[in-house]
Amino acid sequence: MADKIPTTMTAIEITQPGGPLVLKAGKRGVPEPETGELLIQVRAAGVNRPDVLQRQGHYPPPAGASDIPGLEIAGDVVAIGEGVTRFRIGERVTALVSGGGYAQYCNVHETNALPIPAGYGFIEAAAIPETYFTVWHNVFERGGLQNGETFLVHGGSSGIGTTAIQLASAFGAYVITTAGSDEKCEACVKLGANRAVNYRHEDFVEAVEDATGGKGVDLILDMVGGDYIERNYDAAAVDGRIVQIAFLNGAKAPTDVSKLMVKRLTHTGSTLRVRSVDFKAGIARELERKVWPLLVERRVAPVIDMVYPLHEAWRAHERMEDGQNIGKIVLDVS
Ligand SMILES: NC(=O)c1ccc[n+]([C@@H]2O[C@H](COP(=O)([O-])OP(=O)(O)OC[C@H]3O[C@@H](n4cnc5c(N)ncnc54)[C@H](OP(=O)(O)O)[C@@H]3O)[C@@H](O)[C@H]2O)c1
Repeated sequence: MADKIPTTMTAIEITQPGGPLVLKAGKRGVPEPETGELLIQVRAAGVNRPDVLQRQGHYPPPAGASDIPGLEIAGDVVAIGEGVTRFRIGERVTALVSGGGYAQYCNVHETNALPIPAGYGFIEAAAIPETYFTVWHNVFERGGLQNGETFLVHGGSSGIGTTAIQLASAFGAYVITTAGSDEKCEACVKLGANRAVNYRHEDFVEAVEDATGGKGVDLILDMVGGDYIERNYDAAAVDGRIVQIAFLNGAKAPTDVSKLMVKRLTHTGSTLRVRSVDFKAGIARELERKVWPLLVERRVAPVIDMVYPLHEAWRAHERMEDGQNIGKIVLDVS
């Protein structure tokens, strides 16, 4: 197998910070797998909002990560580094990477790769890691969502939102979500949301009050920030938890933090990309144990919005930036 690996590959480069057209196909050397790493021939790569932020110059790759965008891939293992024990050349995997996904080849530590769930092709498999790792950690580990609790997720039609709705619903939560159009709300309900609020026409705090008999929700996953910070405090139940994963409407807003004290709220947050390989390996193990069986049964599954060829990554970014996507956009690297 190894002698078929070329020395150069096509990769999408961010030629300068800017709009989607700064993404251009270029030539790079094929990386070599280091100790514990797999070299993957990438067949598909997921597109995520953090890639858009990176392209705009707002989210630089962490130290040691590739400057090529792309946080998740699916493909074939074509070479292995020293000390690899789990995977063999020829196996099909899906993997979380800290960069470098928009390319024909990409390295990943074997502990951050998972076997492609039975019945899934490369396109669907590439749409799993980034949102499943993020949602698992923030909703279930950090947020502690329990069966029977009430859960509010903003941006329900996003890659993150579609995953959070399905997983929370599969684990027995009552799910309320917000989205920016009736079409997006309908999609969220089909995925299992008990109530979807078109935030352009309805106040989500009032909708939550109505849906929970005035009690508020136990857990909120928020990517919006801005004035949602205080409104989340209003929508949360006493002793409620709020997990912040982004600030699409701004990180700073006047907020009455006395509501935190009065309601005994917990407001936390995290970012996945900077975490260590070992930390991500821990999430991978939990996902394989608790979520992979649900994926195989299709009780949860990635929602594919659109697929573009690798060299049209700019179109994928344009679509995401315009907020047109419902679920995941994927690049076909075959
Ligand atoms: N912390 C972490 O570890 C982590 C990991 C992955 C992703 N994230 C973050 O999670 C968020 C979702 O990621 P994704 O890949 O699922 O993105 P996505 O599919 O592009 O979704 C973004 C969603 O946010 C909603 N939105 C609300 N206010 C917005 C605004 N001012 N500008 C743009 N969109 C707005 C949009 O829906 P409406 O039309 O309904 O407004 C859209 O569906 C991103 O902010 C991303 O950076 C965080």
